[in-house]
This record gives sequence, C-alpha cells and structure tokens, in this order.
Amino acid sequence: MTPLALKKILVVDDDDNFLKLIKIRLELSGYEVVTALNEDEAVIRIKEETFDLAVIDLRLVHQDGISLMEEIHSINPYMPIIILTAHGSIESAVEAMRKGAYTFLNKPYDPDELLMQIEKAMENQRLLSEVKRLEGLLKEKYEFENIIARSEKMRRVLDLVSRVAPSDSTVYIFGESGTGKELIAKAVHLASDRRDNPYVTLNCAAIPETLLESELFGHERGAFTDAKKSYAGMFAQANTGTIFLDEIGDMSLSTQAKLLRVLQEKQFKPLGSGKPIEVDVRVITATNKDLEAMVGAGTFREDLFYRIHVIPIELPPLRERKEDVPLLAEHFLKEMSQRMKKDIKGLSSAAMQKLMLHAWPGNVRELKNTIEQAVAITRHDVISEEIILPTKDLPPELLTPYKKAVEDFKRGYLVRLLEFTKGNVGKAAELAQKYRADMYNLVKKHNINPEDFKDIDKQK
Ligand SMILES: Nc1ncnc2c1ncn2[C@@H]1O[C@H](COP(=O)(O)OP(=O)(O)OP(=O)(O)O)[C@@H](O)[C@H]1O
Ligand SMILES: [Mg+2]
Repeated sequence: MTPLALKKILVVDDDDNFLKLIKIRLELSGYEVVTALNEDEAVIRIKEETFDLAVIDLRLVHQDGISLMEEIHSINPYMPIIILTAHGSIESAVEAMRKGAYTFLNKPYDPDELLMQIEKAMENQRLLSEVKRLEGLLKEKYEFENIIARSEKMRRVLDLVSRVAPSDSTVYIFGESGTGKELIAKAVHLASDRRDNPYVTLNCAAIPETLLESELFGHERGAFTDAKKSYAGMFAQANTGTIFLDEIGDMSLSTQAKLLRVLQEKQFKPLGSGKPIEVDVRVITATNKDLEAMVGAGTFREDLFYRIHVIPIELPPLRERKEDVPLLAEHFLKEMSQRMKKDIKGLSSAAMQKLMLHAWPGNVRELKNTIEQAVAITRHDVISEEIILPTKDLPPELLTPYKKAVEDFKRGYLVRLLEFTKGNVGKAAELAQKYRADMYNLVKKHNINPEDFKDIDKQK
C-alpha cells in the first residue's frame, strides 16, 4: 500500500536543538519535516522540492527571516509562511505580516498553537486552490458571470459547490433575499457533468398556483379549459439536465405532493394523461423562507423537506461578510460603467467607507442597485459619498470623526451667529456670551471673514 503523501514543512532556524525538537513534534503530528540551519540551505531545498508550508525564525545568521520569506515567495508565491519572533519584537512581526507572512508566533512558542496555525494555514491553502479551480472551471468553459468570494464564508460556499456539483444529489439553497441563491444554483449546474444539458428554472412564487402544476409536469390537449395544445412541462424540458425550483416555500401542499412523487419515483404524469413519463433530472431548490418553521406549522410537507434538503447550502447575509463589499462594489462598478458607457475609475474612499458601514438588509442585490444608481447619476469619474445610499440610511455625522464633527458644528454655529448679526462680531460675542477678543480669535481660527456677512441682504 502506498502511504498517503504527507504534507511537507520546511523549518528554518539557526538553533540546532530547537530544530531537532520541532522536527520531532511536527513529525508526531503527521507532517514530513525538513530543517535548515541557515538561509542558503533553505533556498537550496526550496528550489529542489516543493513544500506546503515554511516556519522561519525571524533572526537568522546572514539575512533576516523576512528577506528569506520574500525570497521563498519569489520562488513559490502561494506558500504560507509562519514567522517565529523573539518576544516583544512586535514591529518586525507587523512588518512580516505586511510582507506576506501567514501569521507570526512569539518565541518560546506554544507547540499547540503552532500546530493549530499550521492546520489553519493548510486548510486556507486548500480552500484557495479549490476556489481557484472552481473559478477556473467556470471561467474557462463558460461565459459565466463572476462570483465574488473573498470572505472565508463565501469561499466555503464555493468549496461546497465544487464538491457537491458532480453528484446528482438534490441541493437546497437558503439564505436571505438578495444573497445570491440564483447565482449559486446556476454555478452548481455549470460545475456538474450536466453542464451541457438543459438548465430550466421556475420561480414558484411568480406563477399562479393553478398554472404551476401544468408548468411543472405539462398537460395533454384538453386537460383543462385553456389547454388548447399539449405542453411538455418543465420537468420534461429539463430531462438529462437540472431544474431549479426557486421560492419552493411558495408551492401549495397539493403541488408539493406531486413533486415528492417525482423525486421518489423519477417519473410523473402530465395533467390529463394516464401515461407516466420517466425523467433524469437533478433538482436544485431555493428559498428565503424558514422551511423548518413551515414544516412545524404544517404548510410545508415534512417528507418533501427531507427529500430536498439532502445538501443544504446556506448563503450568509452580506453584513456577515463585509470583506466581500469592496470587491463586489468594484465588480458592479465595472459592469455598470461598461453597460452605461461611462468611464468611471472607482469610488472615493469616503464612498467605500459608507458602503462598509451600511448594514445591507437587501444584501448583494441592494449593493448592486446602489452602485447602479450611483453610476447612473454621477457626473464625475470617481463616485463620491454624497451620491451613495440615501442619507436617511446613514446619517452623515456617523461617517465623520468626532473631532471633525465638533469642528464642523462650531464653524456652522459661528456662521449662523454672524449671519444673524450681519457680520457684527461684538454683537455675536454678546449673544454667544463670549468676550469680544475671544470671538475674534474664534472667527479667525475658523477662517471666517465677518466682512462676508455685512452685505448679506444686499447680495440677495
Ligand atoms: N457573490 C456574488 N458575486 C457577484 N454577484 C453576485 C454575488 N451574489 C449575488 N450577486 C448578484 O446579486 C444579485 C442578487 O442575487 P440573486 O438573484 O442570486 O439573489 P437571491 O438570493 O436569489 O435573492 P431572492 O431571495 O431575492 O431571490 C444578482 O444580480 C446576482 O448576480
Ligand atoms: Mg432568487
């Protein structure tokens, strides 16, 4: 039996005893370990073999650990590197992180902590390559709208998609409105072996209940008053491919019963027909309703729930993955400015901050609409914060640092005082219960010219 390939770790430190100890510990945990006493040795090994991760002491003989890290990254940019630092050298630790270290640990290190970080780094690496594989797959073969997934949560979703896509299992996608359920449903189909076969979608909420059954299963001519022709129905159209039943929570109990039968027996009868039709269809469903609660309330069949719930994929709300906001915003900005033929370069940093602070109750769809509106109305090539999101959602003072908000208030107050006194600083001082000299100083400090207020009535 060939043993499974072990994950290989390179450890670089100039302390031989330390190396021996760490080698034993990591090997006991199931890793293959190569040690190097100095940077030259390390670089030679790196060029000869591939490692999954490196642990490097910050203080080495010739170079420091950070330049060694940079050298390694010039050979293998994706290798996660953990830096060990002497206790208290926080500045170098920060520098190491900035230059691309996965994380740092203080020496003397805690072996459990090191192991945990190694596992985390490896898992992270695995997800990254999985996401790249999936993205590559989608991009390579299809004109597929990009799925933005920077956050750990979304990466896990994509990871799950790539793992479950090849099987024929029923997928159940749930999450708040606007989180991307339709996008993910399509991604499952495109990442499956059925990708070249039909993809049929049906929104159960958009079709009147009386028509839903015939939409799904078709009907014979004359099956009901309006049935002038026979109709194959969505399940038949989706044969060999995938059917996506969106808003499944809106399906009536009687249609649910029929759907259950299709899932169990892989066949159905069109309305008005006695002949069952056999189909090979993969079913994906989605809902933003709490189906479990509906099962409890008796409005959704429990047996159907378990049938469709085989592989649940939860789409997290945008407020729980704010890291995705900047990429999504840029993605939509590019898309919209192309569509509207406007040459828009980006968002101002205040605008981006506003996006980051917003709670996004409408999730990605709300973000998309927000960017679309901004692109439509802007007259500049950079989107400014004034035109992003209605102010009722986000009081502007929330975006202003405390100090600046106070300064803005003081200046506004002085301006109103001087407007009222028509630029008379003495009177303004009296109203504000300040000494006249202090009032002059304040006015000067805020760059206000009392002369500007003298002729205010005449100017109007
Ligand atoms: N990760 C993402 N990357 C790029 N675009 C996204 C992403 N998530 C959602 N979108 C876009 O946001 C919009 C809303 O997504 P979608 O229609 O899939 O949401 P939904 O969960 O089905 O919402 P609802 O429950 O209201 O039907 C779509 O235009 C979709 O393309
Ligand atoms: Mg939807």
